[in-house]
Amino acid sequence: MQFLLNQSPVTLDEFAPDTTLLEFLRTERVQRGSKEGCASGDCGACTVVLAEAVNGQLRYRSINSCITYLGAVENCQVITVEGLSPNTSELHPVQQAMVDQHGSQCGFWYTGLCHVTLCHDAPNRRKRTPKNYHP
Ligand code: FES
Repeated sequence: MQFLLNQSPVTLDEFAPDTTLLEFLRTERVQRGSKEGCASGDCGACTVVLAEAVNGQLRYRSINSCITYLGAVENCQVITVEGLSPNTSELHPVQQAMVDQHGSQCGFWYTGLCHVTLCHDAPNRRKRTPKNYHP
């Protein structure tokens, strides 16, 4: 199985079929920006963006990684909060807007808010392909 995690290709020869995407991100990839709150798809603390090719164009949607099996992201791009900005020294405009408008609150759901907001801008990115995409 293979997929793109932010801008890095991931290839897995095997994994437990009940592994969730959130478990993989937090334990195997040490990407802990996505949090586990309810672990049942209700709170949004684990939200990531999934980009998948549909009819030659990318479709973006926010998903709850706690209830998404790892195998479901095959051939997709998973965008975590760690990969939102192309430059690690700068915030993504969505993140900067959260800071400027004092929208981050406690920070637990901050990643989910950023990803959902990012997906609302998805029509502006539909002409991009997986090769030239960066949020
Ligand atoms: S941890 Fe609450 S929706 Fe995933």
